[in-house]
Order: sequence, then structure tokens, then C-alpha cells
Amino acid sequence: MTATVQLTTDQLLTTTRAVRKRLDFDRPVPMTVIRECLEIALQAPTGSNAQGWQWMVVTDQGKREALADLYRQAWAVYPSMDASAHRVHSGDPSMTAVQEKVVSSAEYLAENIHRPPVLLIPCIAGRVEGIPAPFGVVAQASIYGSILPAAWSFMLAARTRGLGTAWTTLHLMHEEKAAGILGIPYKEITQVAMIPVAYTKGTDFKAGPRKPLDPILHVNNW
Ligand SMILES: Cc1cc2nc3c(=O)[nH]c(=O)nc-3n(C[C@H](O)[C@H](O)[C@H](O)COP(=O)(O)O)c2cc1C
Repeated sequence: MTATVQLTTDQLLTTTRAVRKRLDFDRPVPMTVIRECLEIALQAPTGSNAQGWQWMVVTDQGKREALADLYRQAWAVYPSMDASAHRVHSGDPSMTAVQEKVVSSAEYLAENIHRPPVLLIPCIAGRVEGIPAPFGVVAQASIYGSILPAAWSFMLAARTRGLGTAWTTLHLMHEEKAAGILGIPYKEITQVAMIPVAYTKGTDFKAGPRKPLDPILHVNNW
């Protein structure tokens, strides 16, 4: 099966949203489609061409419920974090409505994250903790940079097949417990996200609200 949602490249890149409220929890997602999206993801770049990625596809209901439980424990403390959607942009009234929608959508996902038929956990060989300078920043950029482009490619490929996804990271507050649930060798392998995957209710998505480019564009000098 190939792409079913016909989009130009620019449409694909501008309308692949964090889908939460429009996930169809009842429609099964064939493993063949997940495999197609992953084959595309494997064309992404990796540092030194290391290809140290590992892909954990969770379909088992009991394991999805156990991961959802960890996610909801993290969701309970998330609003108190400075980086939470509740708090970022808090000094900018022009962002209030947008952030309220993000929080409402994220809350819905937290309540329902056991329900998407697939939870995808992209993983990468190595761990970033405790790497001393001057290698630390390079190592962190290399480790995450060798899995995040591929994970995003997966999400784009999923979108063209009628699937919705949302990047989530909250379960990583309990990464070691998640590793235990899934048999991931925690000391050698870093989980970088947990991506719910489900068919979407409708396939028409719009570009998201974003702050303008000019204040964040630097040409030759900061
Ligand atoms: C690094 C990262 C972490 C994220 N973590 C979560 C998360 O734990 N839970 C969640 O619901 N959304 C999470 N998101 C999704 C963001 O809320 C979403 O990308 C943002 O609101 C923009 O959404 P839009 O592209 O649909 O406009 C995360 C996104 C990124 C890039």
C-alpha cells in the first residue's frame, strides 16, 4: 500500500500536525503500513552513518496500558514545569488562545493514550547522561540528531497514508520503567519519544499557528 492522501511536498510539510482529538481509536492499523513508514524513515541521515536506531512498535493492549499509566503519572506533574504548554508564552497574551487549545488537546491525549492501536517508541544506541566536555554537546547532538529526523520522516510518511501521529516525550520521566515493560536494555539504548499512531478522522489538516520568522532570523550576525 502506498500513499493515499495526495499532498504536495509543501502541503505535507506544513500540515503534519500533532493529532490527538482526531485519532480514530477503533480502526486497526496494519503492521504492513507501519513497516512501510519505517522503511521510509530509514532513509534519514545519521551521524557517521551509524544507523544506531531501534524501533519499538507497541500494539499489545496490556503494554500500551502500562505505558499510558507512566505517561499519566508524568502528565500529573507536567503543568508545574516551566517548559509546560500551560506556562510557556505565559507573558504573551497573543498566544493564550493557542496554548489553551494545545493544553486541551494534550489533556485529551493523556486521558486516552492507551487507545491508539500503535505506540511507536523510536530508540537510539547510546546514552547522553554524564558525557564530559568537550564531547558532551557533540555527543548529545549526534545521538538525538541520529534518530529525530528519522522519527519525523515516519510521521510524514504516516500522514500521507491517512495516519495521525503526535510527538510525545512525557513518558521519558519514567524511561527506565518503560524499558522494563518493553525489555529495552536501558543502559545501552535511549528512548527518545512515544508516538501514538492511528488513522485520522478526516485527512484535511491546516498549517498551525506559528510566530513570525523575522524576529528569529539571523543573517551573518545574531
Ligand atoms: C520535543 C517535543 C516534545 C513533545 N512532547 C509532547 C508530549 O509529551 N505530549 C503531547 O501531547 N505533545 C507533545 N509534543 C507536541 C507539541 O505539543 C506540538 O508539537 C506543538 O503543540 C505543535 O503542534 P502543531 O504542530 O499541531 O501545531 C511534543 C513536541 C515536541 C517537538
